[in-house]
Amino acid sequence: MQGSPRFEPGLRRIDPEHWLIPDTEKDMALANKRHLLDTRREEVFGAMDGSENAQFEAAQMIYAVLGKTSEQSDELPLLMAFRLVSDDLCVLEKREGVWVLSAACLCSPTHFSLKHVLGGSMAALHGPVPGGDPALAGKINLMFDRVAPGLVLERFNWTVQAGAARYMPDAAPMRALAAATPLQDAKKVLHLRIERQTILRLPQTGAILFCIRVCIDPLRDLAPEQQSALYQSWTAAPKNVRDYKGWKHIDPLIHAFFKKNGG
Ligand code: HEM
Repeated sequence: MQGSPRFEPGLRRIDPEHWLIPDTEKDMALANKRHLLDTRREEVFGAMDGSENAQFEAAQMIYAVLGKTSEQSDELPLLMAFRLVSDDLCVLEKREGVWVLSAACLCSPTHFSLKHVLGGSMAALHGPVPGGDPALAGKINLMFDRVAPGLVLERFNWTVQAGAARYMPDAAPMRALAAATPLQDAKKVLHLRIERQTILRLPQTGAILFCIRVCIDPLRDLAPEQQSALYQSWTAAPKNVRDYKGWKHIDPLIHAFFKKNGG
């Protein structure tokens, strides 16, 4: 509803009470997490040595906000907390003066995989984003240095995908589905994928906890004004946004969908 994607921090402060609650996608997201943790644990969880204290603090913070106490378990504290909320969890710590991703549980990645990002700096992770390195990475690092304990910051991004897959480390299968879908079936496959990202400081360790919550809804279920805002934003997006997001693969289906829906 706020126009084409922009590659900017676009952060705003939110009421800390709304950091993790309400959690409307929880049932679907937790089922996805359970399945991936059972079948591909090493793909979806990773941690650098020395990140244990920050992981523990992140888990405690989540338990506190949900009003739960941690149970005795053989599982790592971060993973136990991860099973309670629909968000993916990223812990960032400063190593040798550089903010790096020191631990992460990632069951809803949008076209990136843990093995490529664990231990990475903001510059390395945002290299593929237009203006990502050094401009965007510099702003992110500065914000991580400055964000005060107790504040919760929020930002959103969005794209459209074929199918409803949550776990999408690689866009290729989704793009193959888009290519194989007859145009008259656009309304069956197109989904809006929105990421809500939140950021807060862990006061004891000084680490940052970055959470990613993904909501996936069929385009056909959006209200008419949401559909028309989406179409406007899609068609008005500049070339660098379209190229980065790979929208050419979805374009024919989008145009077919909106033609049928009067867009
Ligand atoms: C304030 C913090 C951050 C901001 C403002 C930010 C901003 C962005 C932006 C603008 C993009 C392009 C897509 C989009 O519109 O979202 C992006 C992509 C990405 N971000 Fe971030 N980011 C932040 C933190 C992080 C963190 C902590 C991670 C660690 C996992 C991360 C990992 C990525 C990855 C992997 C991509 C995709 C890069 C690719 O296409 O290969 N970001 N980020």
